[in-house]
Amino acid sequence: MNRRSFVSSAGLGLVGAAAATKFSSGRALGANERIVCGFIGVGGMGRANLRDFLKSKDVDVAAICDVWQPNVDRAIQMTQGKAAGYTDFREVIDRQDIDVVIIATPDHWHGYMTILACQAGKDIYVEKPLAHNIHEGRSMVAAARKHNRVVQVGTQQRSGRHYQEVVDFIQSGKLGKITRAATWNFQNESPHGMGNLPDCEPPSGLDYDMWLGPAPERPFNPNRFIFNFRYFWDYAGGYATDWGVHHIDTVQWAMNVRAPQKVSAHGGKYYIQDNRETPDTLEVIYEYPNFMLTYSNRILNANPLNGRSYGIAFYGTDATLVVDRQGYEVLPETHGTFETLRPFYERDLEAAKLGRSVYPWGSERDVWTGRTEKVQGNRSEQHLAHVLNFLECVKNRQRPASDVEIAHYSTTTTHLANIAFWTGRTIHWDPGKEQIKDDAEAANYLRREHRKPWVVA
Ligand SMILES: NC(=O)c1ccc[n+]([C@@H]2O[C@H](COP(=O)([O-])OP(=O)(O)OC[C@H]3O[C@@H](n4cnc5c(N)ncnc54)[C@H](O)[C@@H]3O)[C@@H](O)[C@H]2O)c1
Repeated sequence: MNRRSFVSSAGLGLVGAAAATKFSSGRALGANERIVCGFIGVGGMGRANLRDFLKSKDVDVAAICDVWQPNVDRAIQMTQGKAAGYTDFREVIDRQDIDVVIIATPDHWHGYMTILACQAGKDIYVEKPLAHNIHEGRSMVAAARKHNRVVQVGTQQRSGRHYQEVVDFIQSGKLGKITRAATWNFQNESPHGMGNLPDCEPPSGLDYDMWLGPAPERPFNPNRFIFNFRYFWDYAGGYATDWGVHHIDTVQWAMNVRAPQKVSAHGGKYYIQDNRETPDTLEVIYEYPNFMLTYSNRILNANPLNGRSYGIAFYGTDATLVVDRQGYEVLPETHGTFETLRPFYERDLEAAKLGRSVYPWGSERDVWTGRTEKVQGNRSEQHLAHVLNFLECVKNRQRPASDVEIAHYSTTTTHLANIAFWTGRTIHWDPGKEQIKDDAEAANYLRREHRKPWVVA
């Protein structure tokens, strides 16, 4: 199949294509090799990605694609007018000189575009959450493996130095046994949120049909468009997947697990006065074999937890660790620590000397009492490091920090929260088969209908 027929048939479904770029062979390439990039979707995050890719001396940005012309223009300006503009992403994927595509469209497009780019022999940096649903995520992993592509996903905490420290700290056992972790996002959008804008004609300069792509056809509504698409099920999964995936990715990484066994979710759209579909108040409970994790989201009250409006807390028997993008701190356990247990400890020592049995907390107990200082992090450091990690992997053909399969597991966990929310039932998950156990109705939510021709097989 030649390149032209590949593009023209791409719209009929995902098709195979001859691998074409200089990185397609799977050979590691020299450190000085230039990487030619095409950006697909250059709204808020697409331009943040572009900013950091442009900081690499190895990168040439050849193409900018968006279905909304003002965003194309803005991004081309960032390249000092060097990149060519496109509205059809297939033309970018079709360019043989482009090695890498960076996808930052709304979630409902990630699957189709990533798979097509894999088939065309591109390496890919695609935004989180990996996919709009679990089936698409698995298909993306399969395509990346089949075509030997480097696929990095935008869960950039994996490249953040202080997050890496946190994971080492937890895995070293210094917090003791962790049976509970909590994650959260709190803010106050009361009462009007994003408002209740009526449907209208799409703005000029927008190819609305290409914005919708695989999602169902419906009249244009400004609230479903830039940024706020997150709060509509056709395109995304609300806070549970949008922010949840960052947190859950870090927890699964630190706790060295891939998936929960059970998930339940509670909440609703109780009061926010806008036309979003996703809840304003949500509580998710994830049960893993040896610990429990919650995700809490409220958008009608911003009272923070541990001084943070968003973050993660790991609760160990010996200490608590709290982390967000600005840094982390370890809070010593103040009840039942070494100090308060000293009398028992000394008695245990005496008992042990006399050969008597000791109390359960025993003389071997080693409670972390030391560190309470805050370690500073830097959110932009995390993102740039993530971009550089990807570019390095494009050259050395190693798996990147947020490899597509890792991100598939983190994203899957967050989709299970929404499935539990929609069904109102506890979801029992079989991670090996990637199936929901004994609940045919819930299993329907593992995939969705795609509007033709944008079908992910
Ligand atoms: N890694 C992070 O921390 C982070 C932060 C914010 C957003 N994101 C992710 O980035 C993605 C985009 O979010 P955003 O906030 O930038 O949204 P946005 O609405 O600002 O940008 C999305 C852009 O994609 C364009 N688009 C839609 N369909 C397209 C198509 N077929 N071809 C080309 N362009 C198309 C839109 O016109 C828009 O300009 C989401 O998946 C989001 O979850 C990640």
